[in-house]
Amino acid sequence: MNFKDESSYIEDNVFIHESSYIEDNVSIGEGTKIWHFCHLRKNAKIGKNVNLGKNVYIDRDVRIGDNCKIGNNVSIYKGVTIGDNVFIGPSVTFTNDLYPDVNVWSDDMIIETKVCDNVSIGANSTIICGVILNEDCLIGAGSVVTKDIKPNFLAYGNPAKQKLKNKLD
Ligand SMILES: CC(C)(COP(=O)(O)OP(=O)(O)OC[C@H]1O[C@@H](n2cnc3c(N)ncnc32)[C@H](O)[C@@H]1OP(=O)(O)O)[C@@H](O)C(=O)NCCC(=O)NCCS
Repeated sequence: MNFKDESSYIEDNVFIHESSYIEDNVSIGEGTKIWHFCHLRKNAKIGKNVNLGKNVYIDRDVRIGDNCKIGNNVSIYKGVTIGDNVFIGPSVTFTNDLYPDVNVWSDDMIIETKVCDNVSIGANSTIICGVILNEDCLIGAGSVVTKDIKPNFLAYGNPAKQKLKNKLD
């Protein structure tokens, strides 16, 4: 594995594939597995028993809770917070800048996004920054989430529309 320096804190029983790159001051909880070609930026904090699939990018200061499963090719940008027991399907994309402009960038422009405990996000969905995905909600594959999703609701489509998970008709 490639460590930028010695300041990262890696618990016991952590697996990090040698192709992955861990920057300084990263914390990784016990039992976590980090597969091929992942990049963890400085100050990232990953909980216990988390699985990061191939080619996952975790930006500066991002917090990820315990028991999360993060699919291949997921990028989680600064300003996004992930709770416990969260499933993030392959190629899900988060955002942190509502009006991107190649000539203008500062951390002050970051708009925060929160993914609460027990949320599942289907493959290839895009989460527009500024939303809260509340506890136990499920996002269908390929959705574009533009608004907060209520606890225990299912949401899908572009833009994602939501309804109670156990009252789908
Ligand atoms: C949304 C989901 C949970 C199914 O919910 P459901 O209520 O059982 O939906 P149904 O299969 O009964 O479909 C209901 C309608 O929604 C549509 N639909 C289902 N999933 C959809 C999605 N992700 N986006 C848009 N429309 C969708 C169906 O085509 C159907 O349309 P119709 O009424 O015009 O025929 C499922 O389709 C899904 O997207 N699961 C996530 C899969 C995934 O990404 N897994 C990740 C690991 S591989």
